[in-house]
Amino acid sequence: PETITIQELANRMSERAVDVIKFLMKQGQMHKITDVIDADTAQIVAEELGHTVKRVAEADVEEGLFDTPDTDDNLSARPPVVTIMGHVDHGKTSLLDAIRKTNVVSGEAGGITQHIGAYQVTSPLGGKITFIDTPGHAAFTAMRARGAKVTDIVVLVVAADDGVMPQTIEAINHAQAAGVPLIVAINKVDKPDANPQRVRTELLQHSIVVESMGGETLEFEVSAKTGQGLETLLEGLQLQAEILELKANAERSAEGTVIEAKLDRGRGPVATVLVQRGTLHTGDIVVAGAEWGRVRALINDLGANVKEAGPSVPVEVLGFNGTPEAGDRVAVVESEARAREVTEYRTRQKRERQAARMGSAGRTLVDMMR
Ligand code: GTP
Ligand code: MG
Repeated sequence: PETITIQELANRMSERAVDVIKFLMKQGQMHKITDVIDADTAQIVAEELGHTVKRVAEADVEEGLFDTPDTDDNLSARPPVVTIMGHVDHGKTSLLDAIRKTNVVSGEAGGITQHIGAYQVTSPLGGKITFIDTPGHAAFTAMRARGAKVTDIVVLVVAADDGVMPQTIEAINHAQAAGVPLIVAINKVDKPDANPQRVRTELLQHSIVVESMGGETLEFEVSAKTGQGLETLLEGLQLQAEILELKANAERSAEGTVIEAKLDRGRGPVATVLVQRGTLHTGDIVVAGAEWGRVRALINDLGANVKEAGPSVPVEVLGFNGTPEAGDRVAVVESEARAREVTEYRTRQKRERQAARMGSAGRTLVDMMR
């Protein structure tokens, strides 16, 4: 059922909470400011205090933002989105850097040093692959919990000199829970104490049977240090992606997910967004979580300004009025008024959930009347 805290009700009417409490007391109901009352009671209070009430249902506000169906004939192939996971220090970041370095021609190399949350490379077979550098498992879990399925394939990095470790197992569980295919990259094979065979055997104990042991999971021996095996890994990823037959409609208004976001001193809020369907354009009005904005600029993974970004393309989006959160879903809306309606509604929801959580920790009526 719909509810509202006394504080929030008072705020929305621009009345004092104590007057709401007093009114309810006259009705024989004792409440404190953080108490939650139902929508019908709130409506009576508001009308008694001389306000007109317009009740808005969540379904109305969120209606049509996401998941409007695409028909088969407007779908076209899109690149796979690949997330690299694995135990601490097993070489996830090094691997991402090395893959990017082999792919970016030297003139553009300036972009490599700065941290980027996502980028796209071209495999030796010619297909594009999007990589996401998720900052740890927490973000991946948060995204999954919020229903944002961003990853098509997980690359599980296991260091050949260290073997399967707790976070390796965690990553396996994440991938399985998300129903995402997994590819194994046995990293650091350049090291003298590397033992790839041990990794294969240990994976077996966690029901990952790699190809060379008669199973179906692709495995690649790689070294982020020497670059060994990276091209083969990219080829493997493209082949795996082709099996998945990934498609999206590029012609519709954009939907996507915030991969990371920060407040930049010079540029204001900057959100790295993975576009998942449709095409995002400069000038579009976007909502992400409780924030919205008009897209002022789109910056690709090489630091260049672009006019648009299609499915599976990661871009930095400038123009948000506030900083959204990693995992927030992004949608394009038709007007600023619509963007305000959606984000104001979500902001209120967020505030009320917080207030409800605080609940009993709030001040009592007696405190209020002093
Ligand atoms: P976290 O982000 O902390 O979980 O670590 P990570 O998995 O991103 O590992 P990172 O890429 O930071 O690498 C950890 C260490 O291993 C660094 O000192 C790397 O230089 C080293 N390293 C990574 N890959 C290789 C490799 O293929 N060979 C060798 N010899 N060292 C490597
Ligand atoms: Mg790292």
